[in-house]
Amino acid sequence: MKDYNGKVAFITGGASGVGLGQAQLFGQAGAKICIADIRQDHLDSALETLRSMGIEAHGVKLDVTDREGYAAAADECERVFGTPPQLLFLTAGVNTFGPAECSTYDDYDWVIGVNLGGVVNGLVTFVPRMIKAGLGGHIAMTASWGGFEGGAITAPYAAAKAAVINLGDSYYQALKPYGIGVTVLTPENVKSNIFESNMTRPEGMGATGYNVDEKTIDFLRNFHARGMEPIELAKWLKDGMEAGQVVVVPYADGEEKLKEVYSKWINYASPEGMARLEELEKKVESEKDADRSVVQDDAFVKSGWGKANPNIDWVDSSKKKQ
Ligand SMILES: NC(=O)c1ccc[n+]([C@@H]2O[C@H](COP(=O)([O-])OP(=O)(O)OC[C@H]3O[C@@H](n4cnc5c(N)ncnc54)[C@H](O)[C@@H]3O)[C@@H](O)[C@H]2O)c1
Repeated sequence: MKDYNGKVAFITGGASGVGLGQAQLFGQAGAKICIADIRQDHLDSALETLRSMGIEAHGVKLDVTDREGYAAAADECERVFGTPPQLLFLTAGVNTFGPAECSTYDDYDWVIGVNLGGVVNGLVTFVPRMIKAGLGGHIAMTASWGGFEGGAITAPYAAAKAAVINLGDSYYQALKPYGIGVTVLTPENVKSNIFESNMTRPEGMGATGYNVDEKTIDFLRNFHARGMEPIELAKWLKDGMEAGQVVVVPYADGEEKLKEVYSKWINYASPEGMARLEELEKKVESEKDADRSVVQDDAFVKSGWGKANPNIDWVDSSKKKQ
């Protein structure tokens, strides 16, 4: 799809960061925008921004883990704009990080519930409506570069994002006959408000094994301030959608990055590969010692980001690198 004029776009998490960038870019290209978000303050300011740009925009308060709420939001979008969306952006997401061995059920239930469950709910809610409308269209899911591999402090997030990447392939294959394209976006660091994720963590899922406090949030705020602009990211996505790509790695060296990460998985699958990885790890460690980027590492070590909740007593930090 290249002509967005009059098309209806439904964007979860569309009131901030990555989703707002998508709303701005596709809105300026002529689409009517329905943003859905759990935060009313984000909705209010995003609608003001979009309307001030001359974009036809509607906001709906939605928790993407609420299936009934999702159906009601889809009804509302259809009532306001006349058709189900031709453009569906499943973008809402949250993060929290800490040692995998400290993760609680609540850490998993929240992060996987929003980042994977929210996408599943979006697909189950909207795909039948999009097919029945017979207007074709495109579904874009925002996963993360972090979904291509695991990480010692990223377990629930990486698992959810890996599943979203995988879902992209399934739905790409399934929806092609209906003229509905599917693209998965896999960015690294983006300038956004994701450091405030904890504000939307449900009270009933408050038990965390991770160290989350003002200092770690501040570290993340500074980290994301250095990320890619959401508009630039949305441009990468739009180009990828128009080219019919299933995956968008929004970097000039995206293909090289993918080769590197998949070569790790190939190495994982043989004794020789494991030996190669060990050598590589030693090389990286010695280069790191001589590298000034260690200064940046220091900032996060000092912030306590990625560490265990202080009341956890089974983490042996002497065995950990940082
Ligand atoms: N910021 C990054 O560095 C980065 C990197 C890779 C992937 N991503 C992904 O991009 C997506 C958007 O995140 P962002 O960085 O723009 O963060 P953000 O916090 O700026 O925007 C996310 C929006 O989603 C909303 N949201 C959170 N939980 C929700 C729920 N249960 N229901 C509905 N809305 C909810 C938030 O209120 C917020 O407005 C996420 O899926 C995130 O995992 C972000």
